[in-house]
Amino acid sequence: LACFEPRLSKVVDMIFDKIIRQLFGNDIALPGNITQACQNTQHGDFQCNAAMPTFAFLKKQPGSSSSEYQSPQDVAQAIVRAVGTDHPILMDLQVNGPGFVLCRLQPAFLEQHINGWLFTGQLPFPPISQNEICVVDFSSPNIAKEMHVGHLRSTIIGESVCRVLEAAGHYVHRVNHVGDWGTQFGMLIQYLKEEYPQVIAQDGALPNISDLTEFYKNAKARFDADADFKKTSQTNVVELQSGDPQCLKIWKMLCDVSRLEFEKVYQRLDVNVKECGESFYNPKIPAVIEEFEKAGRLSIEEGGAKCVFVEGMKVPLMLQKSDGGYGYDSTDMAALKYRLFELKADRIIAITDLGQNDHFKLVFAGGKEIGWLQNGQRLKHIGFGTVNGEDGKRFKTRSGETVRLVDLLDESVSRMESKLRERIQEGKANITEEEVHEVAEAIGYGAVKYYDLRRNPTSSYKFSYDEMLSTSGDTAVYLLYARVRLESIAAKAKAEFNVDVEDLLRQQHPVKITHPSERNLVLHLQKYADVMEQTLDDLYPYHICDYVYKLANAASEFVTKCRVLGDPEMSNRLLLCHATTLAMHQCFDLLGIRHIKRI
Ligand code: ARG
Repeated sequence: LACFEPRLSKVVDMIFDKIIRQLFGNDIALPGNITQACQNTQHGDFQCNAAMPTFAFLKKQPGSSSSEYQSPQDVAQAIVRAVGTDHPILMDLQVNGPGFVLCRLQPAFLEQHINGWLFTGQLPFPPISQNEICVVDFSSPNIAKEMHVGHLRSTIIGESVCRVLEAAGHYVHRVNHVGDWGTQFGMLIQYLKEEYPQVIAQDGALPNISDLTEFYKNAKARFDADADFKKTSQTNVVELQSGDPQCLKIWKMLCDVSRLEFEKVYQRLDVNVKECGESFYNPKIPAVIEEFEKAGRLSIEEGGAKCVFVEGMKVPLMLQKSDGGYGYDSTDMAALKYRLFELKADRIIAITDLGQNDHFKLVFAGGKEIGWLQNGQRLKHIGFGTVNGEDGKRFKTRSGETVRLVDLLDESVSRMESKLRERIQEGKANITEEEVHEVAEAIGYGAVKYYDLRRNPTSSYKFSYDEMLSTSGDTAVYLLYARVRLESIAAKAKAEFNVDVEDLLRQQHPVKITHPSERNLVLHLQKYADVMEQTLDDLYPYHICDYVYKLANAASEFVTKCRVLGDPEMSNRLLLCHATTLAMHQCFDLLGIRHIKRI
């Protein structure tokens, strides 16, 4: 198992690479990946695209006009001939179009491959060349404001990105960059002083603010309407920033109240993220400004604002405002420096709405220009689109308010509960009334997550409970049901036929491919490592969704076309069901979807 290459595409790639070099010489220049999986599996499993660049290379050689290769197709034919007809791994080779070489994998090779990992209980991840330190900046709501649907997207995508990186063996700092600093605290502090004097008098007791958003709104209303209030608010900001104990105390209370609310959401969604908010970086900002100043990169604007103009960017980085205050840019530059030099991050990923694209471009470019990125560190911003209502406009409640995250989660779970109760009443369910809530939570939250993760984050989408909770189509509900169905086949085999998958695994009963649907399933199963490699590269969890959905379809075709229970191939097929279950299990884990055993 030591030299086991889990990526099928790599194996095929290596074979073609070897053959081409044997045929045309070692110094031939080929692009990094010459092989790709066929989109349409009617034509083949894989396609090698090397004939075209090879032909171009040959044409440049002296005396090429008399060469036996007059077209890329000729080169492709030569490759096909060189592979031959009894290759241990490749078969059914043919030339297609301008010179693509199509091929299929030998069933014996696929069998050997699946037998290589099935008994380890895990589908293998692609090998990584180096373990990296990663920072994933996600969720990051703002103190004293409600988490909204945008923060939900960041939270869901971020959690999955962390899980994928960790599964590959990287170390991940999961950072919640909460908005816990800034001028809004002046008015919040003032409002709290006025409305909750008893809280300030008592030591340590958290104010019983049932609805922080309401609190925020009221404070804002006062701020806008009352000039005196506004003035004292502004004084509070200065006092807070210079460390006034009372202001700090109130600020901390407000953060604590918010934190409790955020924590509830994280618990519900199995999200693990550690707070390191804007305030943490505040003391680190002056040194950053000094560094830019020393490098001669600071421009002082009229009024005294300190900016950095970055090549190719329309607006400058604003490191210090004219009133001396620090803003979003200042904090993010200090955060970037801290992550690179203190945390020693090799890779930094920030996940926010698309509206912040330019902000992150600017911050990353600023970091590059000042020389912070000399060790090949990778920086990425994942921007996501908006979540819209069925009318195509931004998702709002009936009364026109932004949808509260918790309400959305509650609604998803309660709809799922009703569906499960219906199943119980119809006698279709395998769970009791007592289990309904727990199962509804697993499916309800899973459905919200999957509905988001299954698409490219940059796309905006319409939110529809009906579509999201549908038992058919590309939904978590469909996938979770599919898995339960596979598990129930195994349970029946044990109960009715006395064949236990666990025994088969212990005996290392080998898998054999006896039917095209089995072959199709096995081929798809084994794309896992390739899919993970892609996901580790661009960090889009939708690759995993796409994989697990196609896997569920392949499995469903397999159990429809191939009889499992009572068939002579029962043991073999039970192992295929089991392999599928393992793969689904791993995908759900990476997507942050809970498992259910029965429905
Ligand atoms: N608090 C910000 C918001 O609600 C997101 C912060 C993202 N992270 C960062 N380093 N800027 O939009």
